[in-house]
Amino acid sequence: MKPEPDLIPCQRDLFDLPDDVTFLNCAYISPLLKTAKAAAEGGLLRESRPWQITASDFFAPPEEARRLFARLVGATADDIALVPSASYGIATAAQNLPLARGQKIILLEEQYPSNVYSWRRRADETGARIVTVARPADGDWTAAVLAEIDSATAAAALPNCHWMDGGLLDLATIGAALRQEGAALVVDASQSLGVLPLDVGDVQADFLVTAGYKWMLCPYGFSFLYAAPQRQDGRPLEENALNREDGENFRLLADYTDRYAVGARRFDAGERAHFSLLPAALETLRQINDWGVANIAASLAAQTLAIAKAAEYLGLDSAPAHQRAGHFLGLRFPANRFPGGVPDGLAEALAAAKVFVSLRGASLRVTPHLYNNSADGARLLSVMEDMLG
Ligand SMILES: Cc1ncc(COP(=O)(O)O)c(C=O)c1O
Repeated sequence: MKPEPDLIPCQRDLFDLPDDVTFLNCAYISPLLKTAKAAAEGGLLRESRPWQITASDFFAPPEEARRLFARLVGATADDIALVPSASYGIATAAQNLPLARGQKIILLEEQYPSNVYSWRRRADETGARIVTVARPADGDWTAAVLAEIDSATAAAALPNCHWMDGGLLDLATIGAALRQEGAALVVDASQSLGVLPLDVGDVQADFLVTAGYKWMLCPYGFSFLYAAPQRQDGRPLEENALNREDGENFRLLADYTDRYAVGARRFDAGERAHFSLLPAALETLRQINDWGVANIAASLAAQTLAIAKAAEYLGLDSAPAHQRAGHFLGLRFPANRFPGGVPDGLAEALAAAKVFVSLRGASLRVTPHLYNNSADGARLLSVMEDMLG
């Protein structure tokens, strides 16, 4: 049995957030840990003195990043590639899945573009067709996706929670149904990895990608790609010295080889050993492993639940807790109370009060992390109350 998660007290001191800022927008961009910022600054300083950069700096830090990320998703370091963005990882996956004319690629309505355009291109190239699962009226994305999976399905490219409002998908159930049809699962976990437990074995993902700059608290430009063992013989998007075998031996780099580095390393982007982003990412990966994803998840779920309950008194509603990711709250403005939808001026009033959230579609997206506490939720609600009366 898994141990009960611990609630983690507010970690604001580890971040550089001014007292008058209420930042409830991790789904947009996370603030950096102070340690990560210092590590990035140290990296820039070293780049101004490149004689201090050694050959091992090209290899040891990337390996450490693979190892720490792998721990978060139940994989091994060999299964992890370092990429600059979610779109890079999705493009790698899309290029390497067999697709045939008439076969289906399943996506969600209003899915994030980085997990749409590569599939459109592959559909054009192969004659496969994209099937977009409509937003279900009952909020049950899992049932809606399962209803689309059949023998014509080649792949589903899905998040484990919708980026607009946190609507949850049960990827283990979906992954099992896809396997039964011999279809692949590609996961874009950019809006949940690091704050919602996910095990690649449980969901049977072929590829999983996550942008680093949100819930992984990494700097912009540093992301992760998992490739399942059976997908590690694919074709990388780009060729470089370091994703080849023996790339460590700088003196012999012009002895070209046809053999790639082992495992998912072949999918690494060029210059993956970025001297400022990577040290920052390492600080963050260590911290997330220390906190523990299950503990983070429980702590953030408690925060959003408290905000959701208080928002009900203002006439706002949100998906029930079992249909949304715990770290993610989409506050909605029901038509009977708010005939015009999101009230005019709300975004401006919040910004003026230095309360930072996002409007996405018809939802006010509230996405806290461990630097938030109940005072932040109270501040958001008091500005809303003043505005909505
Ligand atoms: C679901 C999802 N995927 C990916 C991204 C970022 O993609 P990329 O790294 O390609 O910019 C976002 C950004 O908001 C997102 O919400």
